[in-house]
Order: sequence, then C-alpha cells, then structure tokens
Amino acid sequence: MQKSSKPNPIVMTMASLGAALLLVLLALLLTGVPDANRGVIRAAGLLAYLCVFMASLASMFMREIVKRVGQPFMKVHHTWVIAGLVGMVVHTTLMAWRSGSLSVYLPRFDSLQVFLSNGGRPALLLFALTALTAVFRAAIGKNWRVLHWLNYLAFLLATAHAWLIGTSFESWVLKVLGAIMAVALVAVFILKRARKPKSKKVKR
Ligand code: HEM
Ligand code: HEM
Repeated sequence: MQKSSKPNPIVMTMASLGAALLLVLLALLLTGVPDANRGVIRAAGLLAYLCVFMASLASMFMREIVKRVGQPFMKVHHTWVIAGLVGMVVHTTLMAWRSGSLSVYLPRFDSLQVFLSNGGRPALLLFALTALTAVFRAAIGKNWRVLHWLNYLAFLLATAHAWLIGTSFESWVLKVLGAIMAVALVAVFILKRARKPKSKKVKR
C-alpha cells in the first residue's frame, strides 16, 4: 500500500509557528534587547505582525495550500490568525500595564505623524473588527468579505507603526522587510481583485 505523501498537519503547524518565532528571535538578536519587559513587548509585536502577514498572504494561495499542504485554507488561516491575535493581546496588554493606562488603546489624531506612529492602535481595532465579523459572517451575509478587506488597511497601519517607533525597525534590514511585506499585501489585494474567479470551488 502506498503511504500518503501529505505532510502531518500538527508537524506543519508547529514547524511554521516555530519558524516565525525563530525569525522574531533573530530580529531581536540583530537589534539587541537591553530590557526583558520591552523585549517581550517587541517579540509579541513582531510575532503578531508576521502572523497576520502570513494569514493574509495565505488567502492568495488557497488552492496551493489545499494541494501542497493538504489542509483546508481555513485551518492554515486560523493558525496564523490565532497566533497573530495572541501576539497582539500580549503586545498591547503589556503596553497598557507598563503605562498604567487603558488610553494606549485609543487612536491619536494630533497629527499624521502621531497617528501613524501610533498606527498599532487603529490597526488593533480593525483586526478585532475583521476577526469578529468573520466569526459572525453567516449572520452578516456576503458583505462580511468587504469588511474583511480592512485587514489590508490594518496591516499598512501596523507597518507604519513599526517603521516609525519599532526599535528593530531602526535596522535597515527590518525596514526593507517591512516595506516588502506591505507592498506584497497591496499586490495580493490587487491581484485577488483582478484575477478571474475559477469555476471549481476551493475547499475552505
Ligand atoms: C486578524 C485576523 C485576520 C486577518 C489578518 C485576516 C486576513 C485575511 C485576508 C487578507 C483575506 C483575503 C481577503 C480578500 O482579499 O478577499 C482573508 C480571507 C479570509 N478569511 Fe481572514 N483574516 C483574519 C481573521 C479571520 C477569521 C477570524 C476568520 C474566520 C472565522 C477568517 C476567515 C476568512 C475566510 C473564510 C477568508 C476567505 C474569503 C474569501 O472567500 O475570499 N479570517 N483573511
Ligand atoms: C494598543 C495598540 C498598540 C500599542 C499601544 C503599541 C505600542 C507599541 C510600542 C510602544 C512599540 C515600540 C516598542 C519598542 O520598539 O521598544 C511598538 C512596536 C511594535 N508594534 Fe505595537 N502597539 C500596538 C499595536 C500593535 C499591533 C496591532 C501590531 C501588529 C499587528 C503591532 C506591531 C508592532 C511591531 C511589529 C513593533 C516593532 C517591534 C520592534 O521593533 O521590535 N503593534 N508597539
């Protein structure tokens, strides 16, 4: 009997999350962490950023994921989404705890520079909104997808936020990587709208 060549889903999940964690540690090593508390805040922010990127990028490769990874798109999407949301919760809860105020969750509109530097705040609200509306998509109807597009905007806001105040992003390596990731998702958004819908349904 021929053995299945499809990778084990648990191994795949652990390996991909492990690789993401490794990249985050590399970024911290590259830029240095003088303070442990700040190190955890930054690691969680970087992990959240990388995971929502992967969740979004995966949407471009639904068929390939089913074919090559052997898992429905939604399983892979959920792995990255959950890891991303956990990262956001840790990143922002520690920020609120450190500053002793819940005002860290409120977007700031003092100027464009201040708004974008603190772009993580509106990004967090948008990610929470899109995740919630996706969970209740059956009740919302087909327009939930349009709301889900806000994930792209949230990612751009998170990129501006990391670029402008992230310690790791003082390094040009991270600056370039962040820019490439943002451009890649803009391209995903455009390409997904441009490509013709295929007749065969994808297993989600
Ligand atoms: C922070 C959380 C999330 C992010 C960043 C994210 C990101 C994305 C992106 C960028 C797309 C492609 C949208 C497009 O261009 O049409 C997508 C598709 C999708 N997402 Fe999410 N998502 C998140 C949470 C969720 C959750 C919680 C669910 C379900 C409970 C979900 C279910 C889906 C589904 C079903 C699609 C495919 C939509 C289609 O049919 O084209 N997402 N997601
Ligand atoms: C209430 C919302 C948020 C607050 C108050 C906040 C606060 C901060 C602060 C103060 C920093 C600078 C840390 C440092 O480099 O020392 C930072 C960095 C960062 N944040 Fe946020 N953030 C928020 C939301 C988000 C969200 C939603 C994401 C991504 C999904 C995110 C991703 C990042 C990243 C990638 C960095 C760069 C870390 C580094 O350079 O090492 N943040 N954030």
